[in-house]
Amino acid sequence: MIFTGSDILSVEQFDRSDIEHIFQVADAMAPYALRRRVTRVLEGAILGNMFFEPSTRTRISFGCAFNLLGGEVRETTGFESSAIAKGESLYDTARVLSGFSDVICMRHPQEGSVAEFAAASRVPVLNGGDGANEHPSQALLDLYTIRKELASKDRGIDGLRIALIGDLKYGRTVHSLCKLLRHFKNVQVTLVSPAELAMPENIVEEMRSVGHNVVVTEDLTQSISNVDIAYSTRIQEERFASKEEADMYRGRFRLNQSIYTQYCEPNTVIMHPLPRDSRADANELDNDLNQNPNLAIFRQADNGVLVRMALFALVLDVVDQVDKCARDVNWYNSARTL
Ligand code: CP
Repeated sequence: MIFTGSDILSVEQFDRSDIEHIFQVADAMAPYALRRRVTRVLEGAILGNMFFEPSTRTRISFGCAFNLLGGEVRETTGFESSAIAKGESLYDTARVLSGFSDVICMRHPQEGSVAEFAAASRVPVLNGGDGANEHPSQALLDLYTIRKELASKDRGIDGLRIALIGDLKYGRTVHSLCKLLRHFKNVQVTLVSPAELAMPENIVEEMRSVGHNVVVTEDLTQSISNVDIAYSTRIQEERFASKEEADMYRGRFRLNQSIYTQYCEPNTVIMHPLPRDSRADANELDNDLNQNPNLAIFRQADNGVLVRMALFALVLDVVDQVDKCARDVNWYNSARTL
């Protein structure tokens, strides 16, 4: 695809070479994400960061990624602090805000809303999550993390064995990740969820159509016993009609150190898009895994900055200028690693 000036709305936009290109650019962002170097390549540029649903990682890491490239960030969080609360349309909001910004990131609870906004925007729009539909930057950082974790074991993504666990119906991160996995060869995907929260059938069929071995099950311990990656997800309570309905599924699939030791292969990597629900009735990834070196959840979040820097650099066409606008940092640098 041509990245320059493009909206990033869905992972359907990418083919394998696009994905590999994004990862190559993300790798090159490491000195800046690690605060070894500073680049001012986006000096003067403004990111409009519009999050109409709660977010910690996506909002802050998009903002940090833009700042690390030298740009500035202006934010709106929640409908109540935007004129949408006064009845302003997405169209008008997009026309106005795109006059103030060079690129916009947006999260919205309705499927398709970010695409609707992008159609009216005068600048590129990046989807930070639209309802239960897609979360493209998360899926890219997830796949980037998988690539990195497997590379340390001299493996690539082709031949991956992965279990996706939890709310696969409403979990937009796993929808996008499964779509990306279609571009790789010989992938074994085990989908572990309550039947009512199963992965949408069209996504399952699309994976099978490219030859992936897709198993659908409700058995957690069997499904994590022969995988490279155990990817857990939260019950997406905000998508249910009531808290009581979400409560029916919360805590159904819990992974802790004891289960990991008993059932997983020794170096199975544990992932989660976060936030994990650490309340006692949920606890899908127990805190007793925190010292497990195969728990990749915080490396995963760190990788989000690299991937989002790469997306900005590609969409704003500055990849070749990043290093030319760089210098060493002035301040004491703690031993940060990625
Ligand atoms: N993974 C993710 O989207 O996290 P936030 O909701 O905190 O952005």
